[in-house]
Amino acid sequence: MLSVLTNNGGNDKLYLRCKEYFERDGVIKLFFRGRWICMITDPVIVKEVCLRTDAFPKLMFDEIIPNSAFERHFGVNVVHSNDDVWKRHRRVCNPAFKTLPIHLFDKKGLKLIDVLEKVDNKPIEVRDFMQRFTLDILGIVGFNFDFNSLEDQNNIYVTTYNEVQELLKNPFYSILHLDRIPFIKQLVFRKVDKLNNLFEDIIKEKRKSLAAGHSNGDLLELMLKACENPDISNNQMLSDTELRNNLAVFMVAGHDTTAVALSSLLYLLAIHKDVQKKVREEILSELGDNLTPSVEQHASLKYLTMVIRENLRLYPPFAGLQVRVLAEDLKHKDFLIPAGTPIIPFLYGIHHSPKLWKNPEEFLPERFENEHENYSWLAFGGGSRMLVEFFILVLIFLFW
Ligand code: HEM
Repeated sequence: MLSVLTNNGGNDKLYLRCKEYFERDGVIKLFFRGRWICMITDPVIVKEVCLRTDAFPKLMFDEIIPNSAFERHFGVNVVHSNDDVWKRHRRVCNPAFKTLPIHLFDKKGLKLIDVLEKVDNKPIEVRDFMQRFTLDILGIVGFNFDFNSLEDQNNIYVTTYNEVQELLKNPFYSILHLDRIPFIKQLVFRKVDKLNNLFEDIIKEKRKSLAAGHSNGDLLELMLKACENPDISNNQMLSDTELRNNLAVFMVAGHDTTAVALSSLLYLLAIHKDVQKKVREEILSELGDNLTPSVEQHASLKYLTMVIRENLRLYPPFAGLQVRVLAEDLKHKDFLIPAGTPIIPFLYGIHHSPKLWKNPEEFLPERFENEHENYSWLAFGGGSRMLVEFFILVLIFLFW
């Protein structure tokens, strides 16, 4: 809390302050919202966390911050669920994970080039630009909705979305328990409801357009079609509220992460001109002048893929996996961490550990020429709850 107030936060700083303990013990404990939690970098424990979902279930919103704006906006969904509930959500979301509607990326990618050309060598705030770009792409790829924030960031949809995200990301809101003050709570819930209603309308419209025989292959459409699959029994279907929760979580899981990843990638390429040159040469030789390349062509960009992996190692957009809770006591070295303790596998610490990586602070894409040690690179998570690896293609598409 003190580090937030003194602007001394950040995962790099947390890691540096506690490096000695992370490297020695692979675990530290922190006091958060009235309880002790553990942050873990020990690769053996982290592997167990990823593989044994029964022993390390995810901690749900109602257990962390009951009746909060988080719960109201995200509810139960494919990210925030365990066991059979997760399987039910995942079954419906799987087609959306496996089919990348690349034709939907092209239009916005070309629009970005247009907008950038008009910038005319003036300085731009890259992070803000990438946030707007990835919001537009996710709206289109997710549910064929054009937020149009690249061109008009003050429209009602963008402001409604951004207001809720800023609120949910504000550390003061959750750490200072501002949600317990009735007046603030009401204000916040009103904003969340407005965004929830927007998502509900999108689902209704999508159902209508599917019934009218229109189709464009976006993620919501794939999910709705999966719900209609006759192989899925009625009690395995997702309700409209559950679909809405999944839209909300897709947006939050996909928007900031990709914007952060693209911003740090551009930064790294700007300061490593030799790598930039190699990436440019590879793109030109593989794709030439083709402004709308295929999935296969993107997948052939081997060096760019290595650069992206190294970028995600140095600056993982999720510095930690979601909070898990110990279902049983955990013995580690001389410690016993009691059942019920919330734990966070700390990816930033794992990705920067000198025990797992040679010269961890250096930007060396070539280290990904060969297979790396399992569970030392966890930018997309690990085990059954990981984001499918093929999402690296999303970044290649966005970068291109
Ligand atoms: C650079 C981009 C991204 C990064 C670094 C990233 C990272 C991650 C990580 C670390 C996890 C595992 C979380 C855990 O186990 O606690 C995860 C899961 C997930 N991500 Fe992403 N993500 C990215 C982009 C996206 C996008 C674009 C979407 C959706 C449109 C998305 C949707 C999801 C979902 C739904 C899960 C949960 C899977 C499950 O539990 O079955 N992510 N992601």
